[in-house]
Amino acid sequence: MSAPNDPYDPKEVAALSTDELAAAQRAALAAFEAATDLDQLAAAHSAHLGNKAPVALARRELGALPPQARADAGRRVNEVLTALTASYEAARTGLEAARDERVLIEEAVDVTLPWDMTPPGGRHPLTLVQERTSDVFVAMGWEVAEGPEVEAEWLNFDALNIPRSHSAREAQDTLWLDPPDGGVLLRTHTSPVQLRALLARGAPCYVVVPGRVYRQEALDATHSPVFHQLEGLAVDEGLTMADLRGTLDLFAESMFGAGVRTRLRPDHYPFTEPSADVDLLCWVCHGSSTEPGAEFCRTCRSEGWIEWGGSGMVHPVVLQSAGVDPDRYTGYAFGIGMERTLMSRHDLADIRDLVEGDVRVTTALGREA
Ligand code: DAH
Repeated sequence: MSAPNDPYDPKEVAALSTDELAAAQRAALAAFEAATDLDQLAAAHSAHLGNKAPVALARRELGALPPQARADAGRRVNEVLTALTASYEAARTGLEAARDERVLIEEAVDVTLPWDMTPPGGRHPLTLVQERTSDVFVAMGWEVAEGPEVEAEWLNFDALNIPRSHSAREAQDTLWLDPPDGGVLLRTHTSPVQLRALLARGAPCYVVVPGRVYRQEALDATHSPVFHQLEGLAVDEGLTMADLRGTLDLFAESMFGAGVRTRLRPDHYPFTEPSADVDLLCWVCHGSSTEPGAEFCRTCRSEGWIEWGGSGMVHPVVLQSAGVDPDRYTGYAFGIGMERTLMSRHDLADIRDLVEGDVRVTTALGREA
């Protein structure tokens, strides 16, 4: 068992000797000077000015000296500390300046280097098409209307003349919100916005409604549970099917180019009477591929026409649901599928190319859209 240190133990106080201090100072100065970067300097700092450095130890020994000797030794220790700190600071300033200079050179950016002008992303073609079609109608004085994607059953079905027993409800496999009999659903089409627009504006009313719709379908090459429609509604005095036809022709030309006409084919929708499906004259062969001996047209499969959407004269029941007098006003409406339109426009076989948002597809289509 060792005895406690004698406070006057000469071995302990040796750290305070002039020779020892001078040796510590020389070693420290040499280390600071030898450091060639800031990491080495930091290591030298902790070795020679840190808690366990000889000068620090020497300083701790001061307390053990008698008062006279303490003052003398304290002065010497402080001189060494001051000299070392100054030398360390000088070395640090020099190395920092050298580092800054090197960073400026090594990390310089050459702003004159040529670069790829193609932007790395692109706006989705569906967005572009929606904006462009909205522009076409706004230019004719129509308004762009919106409605919620979570919709009331009454607006999505009943007010559109699709009662609970109607088979059209089954054709549009509905996603209901909890509770399933609560009358709230994800809208299956943009047609409920016809009513919302009429209720908000009254007649006359001219609106287009681009929007997202939902149906209970599995995602495959030709179906998606979420897709986009563009709805149009015009209600005014004296509107006829001829107005519908003219509007659809203009719309078709704006999307597919001059000379693309539409054809109306009788069909049935509960919210229009009469109702018609809208076909587009094929914008590739303009119908010529149906002639005997003509080359096969991939776009329309040589049928000359491509199915585009539904349309008709607004059913009086719908006008009444919205508080519009059907004896005074008539209206026409149409609804087209955006994905289908884009797919035929760009010859896409798989709807997932539009859904998944692969930036290579969307930029390529966006450029042409
Ligand atoms: N809402 C119909 C659907 O999703 C499309 C439609 C047909 C809209 C005829 C209309 C219309 O405005 O008049 O299948």
